[in-house]
Amino acid sequence: MATKKKGGQQTAAKVAPAKGKLGVMVVGMGAVATTMISGVEAVRRGLAKPIGSLTQMGTIRLGKRTDNNSPLIKDFVPLANLKDLVFTGWDIFDDNVYEAASHAQVLKSETLKQLKPFLQKIKPMPAVFDSYYVKRLHGTNVKKGKNKLDLAEQLRADIRAFKKTVDRVVMIWCASTEIFMKPKAVHQSIEAFEKGLEKSDIAIAPSQIYAYAALMEGVPFVNGAPNLTVDIPALVELSKKNEAPICGKDFKTGQTLMKTVLAPAFKARMLGVHGWFSTNILGNRDGEVLDDPMSFKTKEESKLGSLEYIFQPEMYPDLYKDLYHKIRINYYPPRGDEKEAWDNIDIFGWLGYPMQLKVNFLCRDSILAAPVALDLVLFMDLAKRTPELKSIGIQEWLSFYLKSPQTAKGLYPEHDLFIQSMKLKNTLRHIMGADLITHLGLEYYD
Ligand SMILES: NC(=O)c1ccc[n+]([C@@H]2O[C@H](COP(=O)([O-])OP(=O)(O)OC[C@H]3O[C@@H](n4cnc5c(N)ncnc54)[C@H](O)[C@@H]3O)[C@@H](O)[C@H]2O)c1
Repeated sequence: MATKKKGGQQTAAKVAPAKGKLGVMVVGMGAVATTMISGVEAVRRGLAKPIGSLTQMGTIRLGKRTDNNSPLIKDFVPLANLKDLVFTGWDIFDDNVYEAASHAQVLKSETLKQLKPFLQKIKPMPAVFDSYYVKRLHGTNVKKGKNKLDLAEQLRADIRAFKKTVDRVVMIWCASTEIFMKPKAVHQSIEAFEKGLEKSDIAIAPSQIYAYAALMEGVPFVNGAPNLTVDIPALVELSKKNEAPICGKDFKTGQTLMKTVLAPAFKARMLGVHGWFSTNILGNRDGEVLDDPMSFKTKEESKLGSLEYIFQPEMYPDLYKDLYHKIRINYYPPRGDEKEAWDNIDIFGWLGYPMQLKVNFLCRDSILAAPVALDLVLFMDLAKRTPELKSIGIQEWLSFYLKSPQTAKGLYPEHDLFIQSMKLKNTLRHIMGADLITHLGLEYYD
């Protein structure tokens, strides 16, 4: 059990300390990955602040409001220190991280030049890739193997070699969105999945080969893309069996972040919604991949889910039964990573009178995604060191960061950002033996 220190501060009796180096194995060293890695190095050197990162800048209230006790999250739970992060990864292009970051054109060249000696040293290992699953890409830095099991073995060998140089490892998928796939028979058990690997079953995508390799090595796996990947019984089972945590999928960054803020507000005030039209233009490589209808379908499904779950139309038919939700993403090269999103929301109020809300978000995709990726890496490493979390498989408390939260079978996902934030912070309080905060607050009026 966690023990209580004087002054209400808690000690991490149950959670193992973050000793030594944390190895971060990144699948896909494109815009998001290189922005995260460059950003961590810039922060380590004191060149910039980790804006957008809850683990680095967020606080957590402990006890009553009158206790005035809100430490930084990183001082409350034993997270890996940024100085202990070591990066490696895979990509189908053999550009080092400096070259890849320059190509991605997210960070200014003067920033990248300051970090060049560090970034140049990180070179991607050959990837497991097949353009059947990502139609718009063709790279040469690719592994060859007699079947998918052999490719998984090669990835496991990469993981084991890296493990020799660090103390703990987390894997994060920052690679492209794969074609839309549904769970098949081969995904239903570990046994069926392994047979499928041997037969190079077409229903097993590269992202699932990486995830399998990570979980087999006891390494937590994060999925930043909307791919099916670990959302299948076989890999959920493997995650539990090998105490290698998994979470949901698809970084929640721009438009969906705003949706999961606005929709709970409408619902909380019982305002109805007739329609929600969301459109985006973006011109980075992600946009190019999403220009393929099969990859777009994967993204569309992930983006569509949030409103349906937040509004619960079956419970509030008068308000949300006829909601028309449409999402468009258009590849528009001049914009690069500087995505623009428009939302037109047709709402209605008292006696059914209609109103409209327009949201125009001029965002920077990878600037929003990088701190999300970093936080997920740090929290998944924490989960792996927490006895109560490491063997439960899905870390639902990390839904906060994801467009498609993953849940136990039969449970609907929580998309409301504020419920997700409360769930995350209460999980941290819980694992550290602190009192949960319910926001009831009657005690102030005794
Ligand atoms: N930026 C955001 O706001 C955001 C939000 C949610 C999800 N995502 C997802 O994150 C992922 C990364 O986005 P990005 O903008 O960095 O894309 P990107 O195209 O810049 O980078 C993806 C990289 O993955 C590589 N890759 C593709 N398949 C691979 C494989 N099998 N193995 C190894 N490498 C592979 C590509 O060569 C490329 O370098 C995408 O799937 C995107 O949909 C991004």
